[in-house]
Amino acid sequence: MDSILVTGGGPLNGTIPIAGAKNACLTLMPATLLSDEPLTLTNAPRLSDIRTMTTLLESLGAEVSALSDGLVLAMSSHNLNGNRADYDIVRKMRASILVLGPLLARHGKAVVSLPGGCAIGARPVDLHLKAFEAMGATLELRDGYVHAEAPEGGLRGGVVDFPFVSVGATENALMAATLAKGTTTLRNAAQEPEIVDLAHCLQAMGARITGEGTDTITIEGVDRLHGATHRVVTDRIELGTYMLAPLFAGGEVTCLGGKRDLLEAFCAKIEEAGAEVTETPEGLTVRRGTGPIKAVDVETEPFPGFPTDLQAQMMALLCTAEGTSVLEEKIFENRFMHAPELIRMGANIDVHGGHATVHGVAKLKGAPVMATDLRASVSLILAGLAAEGTTKVSRVYHLDRGYEHVVAKLRGVGAQIERVRDDG
Ligand code: EPZ
Repeated sequence: MDSILVTGGGPLNGTIPIAGAKNACLTLMPATLLSDEPLTLTNAPRLSDIRTMTTLLESLGAEVSALSDGLVLAMSSHNLNGNRADYDIVRKMRASILVLGPLLARHGKAVVSLPGGCAIGARPVDLHLKAFEAMGATLELRDGYVHAEAPEGGLRGGVVDFPFVSVGATENALMAATLAKGTTTLRNAAQEPEIVDLAHCLQAMGARITGEGTDTITIEGVDRLHGATHRVVTDRIELGTYMLAPLFAGGEVTCLGGKRDLLEAFCAKIEEAGAEVTETPEGLTVRRGTGPIKAVDVETEPFPGFPTDLQAQMMALLCTAEGTSVLEEKIFENRFMHAPELIRMGANIDVHGGHATVHGVAKLKGAPVMATDLRASVSLILAGLAAEGTTKVSRVYHLDRGYEHVVAKLRGVGAQIERVRDDG
């Protein structure tokens, strides 16, 4: 197993290229199951989660070729020969549930393992299943699997009222509705840029969708979808992560391809804390303003609110802010696993349920720490950039799920960072 060693210092200067979005690509890839014509994705991220989704699609009989050093995914599900997503693959990655909608819509039947919980929460899929029921499907949970069947003649258009916002349930229902008979309306739908990206890809395949990016999406079902080529949207979470780096270590960093409208709430929050953010055609440039980082309060919310996937990184920054910050995690019930690790580095944090109070300290100190999930792992690396001495972050396989070339990208702007193989 590998670890990452980070030695604090700085300042950082230069540019960091931002990849295509993991959370867009993981819903765009299953869209290939909706058509017997090829779907090609460009600007694809090179991540272990993308390889897991590739394995899943291939297990259903789809073909997925990673071209141009993995930046292009050429996919075809012309010869699908299965509709069962096995536990052995699904347990590795919850997003596997996103094959259920396309399989049900195209083949009328699907058997998909329930994903189970993960470090940050129980993460049920009941809203996904209710959406398919609203389209006439019958669903049965048996032996840890969802057994789903469309009515005679295929899914029917319907009204789906989400009791609260779910990114995954919106994506699954959106894909399924493209081939349903009649009109489907998704109300209280998620508005994330990844949803808009999915809708644009489906429209390029011939789907009739309006309202993407708002809380009400309308889909007019069609008989079949055709092939297309689609460019994956920029990864706003990778973008936000690297925008924070110069706030930890000083200096100025430009995140190539970054756009402010992907992260407005986050940009406003870091400006409130003392950052200077400049948008240019090249991307987003961030530098620390004069004076210390100031304490701010943060509440995570669905888009366009502050993203939960940047909460850990923001907490790490506020550990050395001037004053006391309160973070409220409103999306996942167990997403403060990084706090005890930051405390090992000398932070002063009190966690009570969904609230964390961070009392700013003068300096963090390097220590051996452990990654518990994807975003927690990168928050510890960022904290290491500001700490005295060296921080050793272990279990970095979590990181590989969502960040490509993190060592090279940070080293490229002057960070002292390396990846090492752990003995034993
Ligand atoms: C997506 O997860 C992202 N993952 C997550 O990113 C992200 O944190 C999350 O959206 C919120 O923005 C991918 O896109 C692959 P939800 P998803 O359905 O779709 C509850 C990362 O770090 N819920 O919006 O699973 C759920 O438990 C990952 O890249 C139900 O109760 O999130 C959660 O508390 C982590 N029943 C809340 O809703 C359901 O059927 C929001 O979940 C569905 C969700």
